[in-house]
Amino acid sequence: MDGSVEQTRQTYQGWDEFYNKNVDEKLAFFEVNGRLFDIIFAQQFDRPFMDYLCKIADMIRLLAQTKMGQEKLRHLLPHKRAMLYFVQPSTRTFLSFQNACYILGLSVSESRGTSTSSEVKGESSEDTIRTFASYVDLIICRHSEAGFAEKTAWVLNQTERPVPILNGGSGPDQHPTQALLDIYTLERSFQDIGGLDGKKIAMVGDLKRGRTVRSLSYLMKNYNDMTLYFVSPDIFRMKDDIKDFLKKHNIAYYETEDFESVMPLVDAIYMTRIQKEYSDDPSSEADTYPGFHFKKKHLSIIQPHCTIMHPLPRRYEIEVEVDKDPRAAYWRQERNGMWIRAALIAYVFGVEQEVSKEFL
Ligand code: CP
Repeated sequence: MDGSVEQTRQTYQGWDEFYNKNVDEKLAFFEVNGRLFDIIFAQQFDRPFMDYLCKIADMIRLLAQTKMGQEKLRHLLPHKRAMLYFVQPSTRTFLSFQNACYILGLSVSESRGTSTSSEVKGESSEDTIRTFASYVDLIICRHSEAGFAEKTAWVLNQTERPVPILNGGSGPDQHPTQALLDIYTLERSFQDIGGLDGKKIAMVGDLKRGRTVRSLSYLMKNYNDMTLYFVSPDIFRMKDDIKDFLKKHNIAYYETEDFESVMPLVDAIYMTRIQKEYSDDPSSEADTYPGFHFKKKHLSIIQPHCTIMHPLPRRYEIEVEVDKDPRAAYWRQERNGMWIRAALIAYVFGVEQEVSKEFL
């Protein structure tokens, strides 16, 4: 016996009705005075916002190159406190948010599991988040339940002390800030060849349960003339809700199991891991699908400018020998997460113009 009791499941009047609404109908609920307040879905980001945030991220990374610039950044938000509530494992989302907070001068508290909080005594997740809001000005959360960030933001926004919620990954449904760093990485990779518009992207692996490819697919609506290639084993095909979204926005997509046939066609290859942790029957699934791996030999058949990405962590999807090739962008990609998340936090607190003022 570890002394833990079953977590309380509270009933919130109106939640089910809200949750079942179309996303477009919900967006205003997560805004204040025409600005994003909570970051819950990738569908909240439009093109002007994406372009703006990428510019702010570029400025923050430039400022951070000098001691004086770092001092200026640290003086932006020293009066603010953030809570990192990560009860599903994470390395880079946690660390990039934590270091983004440090860059801007915020103080950070953290909880990395439910076993050391009063959730062990049965306190509900909603009461736990509300408690954080009593102490901090920003909550960044990762959770294994789809809709978790949305629900906690919905609950907090009806209290006397709403604080912004940033979704750092909610089950298999969304990872909106990963999509931000993915777009930032793609834009930087293509800055000498016209940016992201008009490009072809292959998304490879477990597209059914991979929240990163879902959130990134939503963002394609902001770019012109995009083409997506969904490359996966049949059991891990992209879900219909994403394909319906792409059809609605006239974004071309193709589905195939033949990875090598797609490699020479695309400007970016976005590899993903098989997300076995969401399997109902893990023993029935293979550990690895070699036909969907990117190997050193493939470097000779992709385009000279093709960007190879991965949200990481990886298992066997990309051979380590690929890492040395300049087209391998995944280590740059994870570092980009820190800059774009710093830009996002600056935006959420309305101090991003203090950053741009440094460049006037
Ligand atoms: N990309 C990503 O979400 O990585 P972590 O799970 O390590 O945070």
